[in-house]
Amino acid sequence: MIKHELFPTLVLQDHFSADDNGELLNTIINRKSGDHYKLKQIIPELPPQLYGVHKDPEFEWVRARAVSTAKKWVQYSGLEDLDLKVTDMWTTTYDGKTNLTQHNHPNAFLSAVYYLSDNNNQLVLIDPAGVAKWQIMPKVIDQSKFKGPYHVIQPNKGDMIIFPSWMYHSVQTNAYYKKRTTGGRGVEEETVIPAVTIAMNLSIVGGYGDKDLHTFNENI
Ligand SMILES: [Fe+2]
Repeated sequence: MIKHELFPTLVLQDHFSADDNGELLNTIINRKSGDHYKLKQIIPELPPQLYGVHKDPEFEWVRARAVSTAKKWVQYSGLEDLDLKVTDMWTTTYDGKTNLTQHNHPNAFLSAVYYLSDNNNQLVLIDPAGVAKWQIMPKVIDQSKFKGPYHVIQPNKGDMIIFPSWMYHSVQTNAYYKKRTTGGRGVEEETVIPAVTIAMNLSIVGGYGDKDLHTFNENI
């Protein structure tokens, strides 16, 4: 008897001491004065503020942390050692009400999110075999093994979450969002605690796969 356990998926939640003096966090938050922020006041359904920072040297230490956690992912997954590189990187500032609908990242091997602030939006990872698991759930005695297709993580400041790029994921609206009414008649002020993340895609450096099996890919 051979037991094939198909498609186990490893997601790692690593932790680093965050950006201690908050310099990077402040740099990103201060960009709120940019055009996107102004436009968002008029069109609230605009997606969260995204900035490409792939080549920004200020973010180099975040890239190094991502590669270090990605190496652990490769090791724990039982793969041969791979040379990995961050090939895309962007910051996202969530104003509280915004979320991200489910998506994945084609043309990458691993995707990562680093959390620079407290009070983060929850990250939802979606199991592609989830439908099948729900179907058999009533017959399973230990239902704790089948939580359905959605795995929800509440990230902390300093967390680095890494998962395969093919995995669909979404971001919830922020449970910490607060709206309060202050002072004078009709004056309403919204207290927004921005949640700031740095997202990345990682690719394999060099050739990977087997030429005889036609699975060989020449990457970056
Ligand atoms: Fe994403």
